Amino acid sequence: MNKTTSSRQFDVVLWGATGFAGKLTAQYLAKTSTSEPLSWAIAARNEQKLQTLQKELQDEFPDATAPEIIVAESFDLPSLKAMAKQTKVICSTVGPYAKYGTPLVQACVEEQTDYCDLTGEVQWMKDVIEKFHEQASEQNVRIVHTCGFDSIPSDLGTLHLQLHAMKQHDAPAKEVRLFVQSASGGLSGGTMASMINLFEEASQNKDVIRTAMHPYSLNPPEKRHGPTQLSDNRYGHDDLINSWVAPFFMASVNTRVVRRSNALMDDIYGKDLRYSEAMITAKGAKGALASTAITGAFMAFGTTMAIKPTRKLLQKHVLPKPGEGPSEEKIVNGHFSCLLVGEVDSDKIKVKVSANRDPGYGATAIMLAESAICLAKDRAKTAKLDYTLDGGILTPASAMGEVLIARLNASGVRIEVK
Ligand SMILES: NC(=O)c1ccc[n+]([C@@H]2O[C@H](COP(=O)([O-])OP(=O)(O)OC[C@H]3O[C@@H](n4cnc5c(N)ncnc54)[C@H](OP(=O)(O)O)[C@@H]3O)[C@@H](O)[C@H]2O)c1
Repeated sequence: MNKTTSSRQFDVVLWGATGFAGKLTAQYLAKTSTSEPLSWAIAARNEQKLQTLQKELQDEFPDATAPEIIVAESFDLPSLKAMAKQTKVICSTVGPYAKYGTPLVQACVEEQTDYCDLTGEVQWMKDVIEKFHEQASEQNVRIVHTCGFDSIPSDLGTLHLQLHAMKQHDAPAKEVRLFVQSASGGLSGGTMASMINLFEEASQNKDVIRTAMHPYSLNPPEKRHGPTQLSDNRYGHDDLINSWVAPFFMASVNTRVVRRSNALMDDIYGKDLRYSEAMITAKGAKGALASTAITGAFMAFGTTMAIKPTRKLLQKHVLPKPGEGPSEEKIVNGHFSCLLVGEVDSDKIKVKVSANRDPGYGATAIMLAESAICLAKDRAKTAKLDYTLDGGILTPASAMGEVLIARLNASGVRIEVK
C-alpha cells in the first residue's frame, strides 16, 4: 500500500455521483459495501443533489456503508485538493473530461491520490500525459483513464489473450483483432456532450484531428511509431473470422489505449503488434449488405457531427441531455459480447469479453467501480505483477492487469479464453 495514503479516511471518493453514470456507479459501490468493507464518499458540485442521492442510496441499500458527502467544483482547485487529500482513490464521472477534468488530475498528482475515470477523449488524454506523466511516475501516483466499456474489454482482453499466448507458445500473437459480436444498450447526455465537445475542439484546432488520426498518439513520445495498422473504419469481409464487418465507433480510442499499454509495459506484446477493431455484421449476402449499410450510417453520422449547424440541430432536438440516459429496463436487459482473436504458430487463440448488462452504463459502472476498489485495496497484489507500473498516466492493463481481470470475472464482466 502507498505509505502516503494508507491512513486516509476513504478508500474511494466518487466525484460526479449526481450524474447518469455516477449514480449507477454509486449504486454499485453501495451494493459492494454490503459484502466487502469499503469507506467511501459521494462528491459533486451540488450539495442538495448529493443529499438526495445519499438518502436514495440508504433507502435502496439499508445494509450498505453510508457514503459521506463532499462538495467540489471542477474549476476550484483548493476544493479538489481538499477532496483528494481525504482518500486513497478518486473515481471521476465528471465529463466532458477535456472541459472539466484537468484540475482534478493535477490535484490527484499533487496530493498523491490514485485516480480512475471513464474518458474516451484521446486529445485530452494526450494533454494529460504530456503535462503529468513524469510527475505522476516520480510520485508513484496511478492515473488510469478509460476504465469503462472504452477501453477495458479491448485493453484487458488483449492482455488476457497475450498472457495466454506466452504461456502456451512462449511468444505473443503478432496481430490481435477485436470483433464486437453483439451489443445492446443506449447513450447518455454526458457521452454525447463529450462527443460534441470533441467535434467542437476539432473544428477550432487541427492538432485535435491529427491526434485523433494518429495510430500511436497516446504512446510515449519516443515510441510514437510502429507497423502500419488496419483502418479504424474497417469494413468488408474479414477472412480471419470468415464474416463481414463494419466500423466499430470506439476503435479510434481503444486501439490507442492498447498500443499505449504495450509501450508502457516494455513492448510485452512485441514491438510490431498490429491491433484493430471492427463490428461483426453476419456471414453471406446479408452480412455484406449490413456491412455497407452500417458503414454508410457511420460516415453520415460523422459528417453530421462535423458540420456545426447540423451538430447543433442534433444536439437540440435528437440527442439526450446531460443527466439523461437509457432506461433501467434497457440497462438491465442489455448485454455485450466482444471476441478477440490472435494467432501464434497456427493456433488461433480466442478471448471473449461479455456481460449481461448494457455496455455503456450497467457494465461500465461495474468496470469503473471495480477499478477504483482495485486501486484502493489491491496495490500489494498489482505490484507483484512484473508488467505493471507503480505510477504515471496509465492504462487499466498497465496499472492493474490480471488483478482487475479477476475482480471483473467475479463481478459479472467475464474475460475468458474460449
Ligand atoms: N467510457 C465509457 O464507456 C463511458 C460510459 C458512460 C459515460 N462515459 C463518460 O462519462 C462522463 C459522464 O457521463 P454522464 O452521462 O454520467 O454525464 P452527466 O449525467 O451529464 O453527469 C456529469 C456529472 O458531472 C458533474 N459536473 C458537471 N459540471 C461540473 C463542474 N463544473 N464541477 C463539478 N461537477 C460537474 C455533474 O453535476 P450536476 O449533477 O450538478 O450537473 C454530474 O454529476 C462523460 O464524459 C461520458 O462520455 C463514458
